[in-house]
Parts: sequence; structure tokens; C-alpha cells
Amino acid sequence: MPEQTAKDVTLLAIESSCDETAAAVVRNGRDVLSDIISSQIAIHTEYGGVVPEIASRKHVEAITLCVRRALAEAGVELKDLDGVAVTHGPGLVGALLVGVSFAKALAFSADLPLLGVHHIDGHISACYIEEKSLEPPFLCLVASGGHSHLVCVRDYGIYDILGQTRDDAAGEAFDKIARALGLGYPGGPKIDAAAREGDARAYDFPQAKIGGASYDFSFSGLKSAVLNLLNQSRMAGEELRVADVAASFQRAVVDVLTEHLLRASEDTGIRTIAIAGGVASNSALRKRLTEESAARGLTFICPRPVLCTDNAAMIGAAGYYRFRRGERSDWALNAEPNLPLGNRERRFHAAGMHGHDGAAGVKGGEMS
Ligand code: KG4
Ligand code: ZN
Repeated sequence: MPEQTAKDVTLLAIESSCDETAAAVVRNGRDVLSDIISSQIAIHTEYGGVVPEIASRKHVEAITLCVRRALAEAGVELKDLDGVAVTHGPGLVGALLVGVSFAKALAFSADLPLLGVHHIDGHISACYIEEKSLEPPFLCLVASGGHSHLVCVRDYGIYDILGQTRDDAAGEAFDKIARALGLGYPGGPKIDAAAREGDARAYDFPQAKIGGASYDFSFSGLKSAVLNLLNQSRMAGEELRVADVAASFQRAVVDVLTEHLLRASEDTGIRTIAIAGGVASNSALRKRLTEESAARGLTFICPRPVLCTDNAAMIGAAGYYRFRRGERSDWALNAEPNLPLGNRERRFHAAGMHGHDGAAGVKGGEMS
């Protein structure tokens, strides 16, 4: 472990918004001293999706051990910490409450500052861990089980939302189509694997986008098209190649995510692009964006898959920048299942996005 200096900020971070109980110790927002993830996937697989009540109970069982292990692996004690960061929204309310209550009790008893962190602020901040020299501004596509946002990171924790989904999140679409194809839960990795054996041009599914210059996404039309195809072929008694459907569906999602991110880069003139969230671990999306950014001379930040799916290290990174700005949460911090990320930056929507005058942004984790 590197020597700790007086200026260093060492945070314990806790994440429990969905089906992973996670704890990490992160120094100065970028150095991960430990990163413990206890996954519940095996339990929820039996039910074909996350069962909120079971998730909460499993978090209660796992959290103490996760935190103990995170501290032990980092080689730090409570007295070495400068604060406790915790995801307080959005997510499953019962699941969030476990992490928030634990973090509050620990911070209060150890006399440490408490930092409530927005889950998506965390996902975006995973990019700082992946690329130590990364600094805002950059564009980040955040696609997870609950969110699909195209964000301009104007400064640390300051986000302008350029586009978002009008219906399902990208990961949700992956999960639903995987279930319909009989591939099981969680859908993203299963479709990713099946698609490798399939022909991505076998079916021409509709693009998951809104017309015009909008950066918004809409996955419901694409989802219906795939489900209709499955129903029609079932009724006609025809066998479909699951791998071809998976690959064609994945192509439609990857196309729209890539197109929006690249168009936003062109429109804003911001030449550093990044991806975050569970869907960012999709191999086809990573490959496509690696190629497209190389062809355009863009800098592409592509966090390792373990930093894309839920983890606590990313919460420690986001918490650090809040800490540095002097923000602290009070003891009334609560779980907020629908905590919004920020105000939609409508001024960005027009084609001429250059010369943006620095409209008021919104700080991660503090939005109302
Ligand atoms: O960020 P995350 O771990 O949890 C949420 O905040 O939701 O994202 C989970 C989502 C799930 O919908 C999962 O199917 C999707 O990310 N996912 C993937 C892949 N790995 C996980 N989607 C596409 N391809 C993948 N390889
Ligand atoms: Zn997440």
C-alpha cells in the first residue's frame, strides 16, 4: 500500500442499490486500495430477475463482512479514514436503505464525515479510476439496468444531460429480450455471448431512437419488434436462430448508442468520450467505439468491465470529488429511489452546440 500523506483523502465507499453488496477503500478518488463485491446474481437467477425483498435481506447479511474485508484488504482502520461515501439513490429503496443505514451508523460512531453519492455520478466517476489522467470536460454515455443517459461532464460532479431514454433503459431491454429468447438472467452478458455466434445482419430491427436532432433514446419499439418476430415465428411453427436474433438486436442497440455519442462529440467539439454502467461492458459496444474513435482521432475511455457493472470503488471516486468541494451529507440522509441526476440541458439540443455559455449545472448527488 502506498504511504499515506497528510493531504491524502481516504474514503470507505458502500454500494447496495441493486443486487451487489459492495465496499471499497479509495484514496484521492483514483487509487483503489480494495474493492469487494458480493454478487447476488446466483440467487436472483432462479426468479429470472432481481426480487427486491430478497435483495434487501441479502444486503443485510453481506454488508458487515464486505466492509470488514474492504478495510482489511486496504490495510486501513477506521481511524485512517477521512469519510464514508454511500450510494443513496436511485435504486431499490429497501436495498439502498441497508447501505445508507450502515454508512450513517458507522460514520456517526467513528466521527467521520458522511457523503451521499448519486449512483450514476458513481458510474461516471469509474472513468477516473480507469484513466488516471482524465479530467472534465468529456462526454459519457451511461447505460445500465435502470438508466440510459448521454451526459456532458462539465466539471467533477457537474452534469448536463444531453439525452436520456424515453422508456426502457438499455440494460432493461437486454434483460427483457434475453428472457424472451430463453437465455436467462442477467440478460446483457447472455446476449453478448450468444451474439458472438450470430449474424448481426440477419434481421433489420428498428433503431432505438427519437427522430430529429434529439439525443434521446427509445427502446420500446425495438423491443416490440423483437417480441413480435418471436411470436410470429412461434405461431408459424418456425425455428429461429437465437444467436441471429441476439446479434441483430444487439447491433440495433449498439448502433444508436454509438451514433448518439459520436454526434454529441461532433456537435459539442468535445473530443474525449467515455462509456459507463453495466451495458458499457458489452463487447460489441466496446469494439465499435474503439474503432470509431480511432478513426476520428477521439480519446475513448472504456473502463474495465468490473468498473462498469455495480461496484463501490466508483462511489469512492465520486465521493472524493464531493468531499473536495466541501460537500457533506447530514444525518438525515435517506434512501431516494428516484433521485434525479440533473437538469436537462435543453440549450444543448440545437445543432449549434459550440459556444455554450456555462449554464447552471447540477451537482451530482444533490439534485432535487
Ligand atoms: O450498472 P449495472 O451493473 O446495474 C445498474 O445500475 O442497473 O447494470 C446492469 C445492467 C443489466 O441490465 C445487465 O443486463 C447489463 O447491465 N449488462 C450488459 C452486459 N453486462 C451487464 N448489457 C449488455 N452487455 C453486457 N455484456
Ligand atoms: Zn449501476
